[in-house]
Amino acid sequence: MRATDSAPWWRSAVIYQIYIRSFADGNGDGVGDIAGIRSRLPYLRDLGVDAVWITPWYPSPMVDAGYDVADYTGIEPAFGTIADAEAFIAEAHDHGLRVILDIVPNHSSDRHAWFEAALAAGPGSPERDRYVFRPGKGEHGELPPNDWRAAFGGGAWTRVPDGEWYLHLFAEAQPDLNWENTEVRRDFEKILAFWFDRGVDGFRIDVAHGLIKQEGLPDAGESVDVLEPTKREDHPHWDRDGVHEIFREWRRVADRYEGDRAFVAEAWVSGPARLARYVRPGELQTAFNFDFLRAPWDAARLREVIDRSLDALGAVGAPATWVLSNHDVVRHVTRYGRPHTEGHGPRADTSEPLDLALGVRRARAAALLMLALPGGAYVYQGEELGLAEVEDIPEESLQDPVWERSGHTSRGRDGCRVPLPWSGDAPPYGFSPDGVTTWLPQPASWTGLTAEAEAADPDSMLALYRAALRVRREHPALGEGTLRWHETPEGVLLFSRTPGFACAVNLSGAPYPLPAHHEVLLASGPLEGGALPHDTAVWLAVDD
Ligand code: NOJ
Repeated sequence: MRATDSAPWWRSAVIYQIYIRSFADGNGDGVGDIAGIRSRLPYLRDLGVDAVWITPWYPSPMVDAGYDVADYTGIEPAFGTIADAEAFIAEAHDHGLRVILDIVPNHSSDRHAWFEAALAAGPGSPERDRYVFRPGKGEHGELPPNDWRAAFGGGAWTRVPDGEWYLHLFAEAQPDLNWENTEVRRDFEKILAFWFDRGVDGFRIDVAHGLIKQEGLPDAGESVDVLEPTKREDHPHWDRDGVHEIFREWRRVADRYEGDRAFVAEAWVSGPARLARYVRPGELQTAFNFDFLRAPWDAARLREVIDRSLDALGAVGAPATWVLSNHDVVRHVTRYGRPHTEGHGPRADTSEPLDLALGVRRARAAALLMLALPGGAYVYQGEELGLAEVEDIPEESLQDPVWERSGHTSRGRDGCRVPLPWSGDAPPYGFSPDGVTTWLPQPASWTGLTAEAEAADPDSMLALYRAALRVRREHPALGEGTLRWHETPEGVLLFSRTPGFACAVNLSGAPYPLPAHHEVLLASGPLEGGALPHDTAVWLAVDD
């Protein structure tokens, strides 16, 4: 975000994603918590981000690491208390950081009082109508109501003792709420207000594209993969038109508050045109741009995704957002270190050869590309340290429900969720007090990748992110705006932004001679005289 901007902060903010279980452990139980986050606020301020997004911190049985919420207006005791949350919000604001929470409206936990009441009240009751209960098919209702599959593997329906079935698009312990029910709608508006009243600046909306199901719940005729975008525009439970009415209501709630409260939609949809529908005037302000994350390390494809995103979002007056990693996908150092870099790879083929040095080199270049593009950007905790996916977590330590529900065919997403290394040269690397076992084991190879080690190394990934975020804050061309492409040899991206800025990324195999008359502001790696080596990016001061 530029200091001089008069536009709302969310149009250009760099938002740091805190995966709370793995950020910092303040109470010494091996799991991250609010006290841990508070202790690291100076680190985030010095990094130079504008806001933090905290993954769900509500009371939860943790079947899906907090995305199974048992009480939307409480705090999970393992993470702290409401008083801790309030103190954290105030302190973050004191450090100049805004706070975005994660709201999970598609489903609750099966331990939520609403679901417990629905089970107790029985078929046909108003309590049951808060969820999606249906009689089964077959002579005795022994077959599920339709063919829908759960995103984590297996069927999307579970039968309860009285014979009805309930829908869960994710794990069995995550029953889908019925968004046709007006009480569900009013309750969520109250939940938003509860947190807005406590000063939060916005919400990331989990599975925003899933809330509305097609009337009659017809068969889908296909199975969905975990967090894969649907290719269809008429899918019976993804990206239905009805979701937009809900978000227009939510926008009205946010607009009652001062200070530009904002939303970001997690919506895995079929492309930028569908995504743009979520950020039309009067709806949500921003949405994650997963097409960028999924794009292969290929100049033409990246340029196509960038152009299509800017065009589609610009057409509705919304800013783009750029994201390379999050808690659901293989860390991009690892993605870019494999020959096939397309897609996000929760089921990455670990048999493909991995060149980590190449992955790091490309990740450095990708960071400069992302942070030079018009709009906002997301940084997933640990990407600023250059962490790779941990692919050798012992099977007995795996926690992601994907592991069980896939019948042990997919290891799931734990490899990008390993607790951060802060200091020292052995686990728990300052994440927890020495001697404490962290909830996922950390690798021995992280010794040189702690925040402490990297802060002392001018060539580290951390040093690169800090420098890039500093230039981004200060340079009048960066943040919101437009870009202009320049002609280059195949495999090279070169664009300029006014006033006086250009970014070049070399994805070709050969060195690229940089344009004349420039000053280097920042480079992702050493330059070769006046040439940009392969898999390297540079920011230049140029004449307009
Ligand atoms: C998307 C979240 O990012 C993911 O971690 C979670 O498992 C699903 N939604 C279900 O809530």
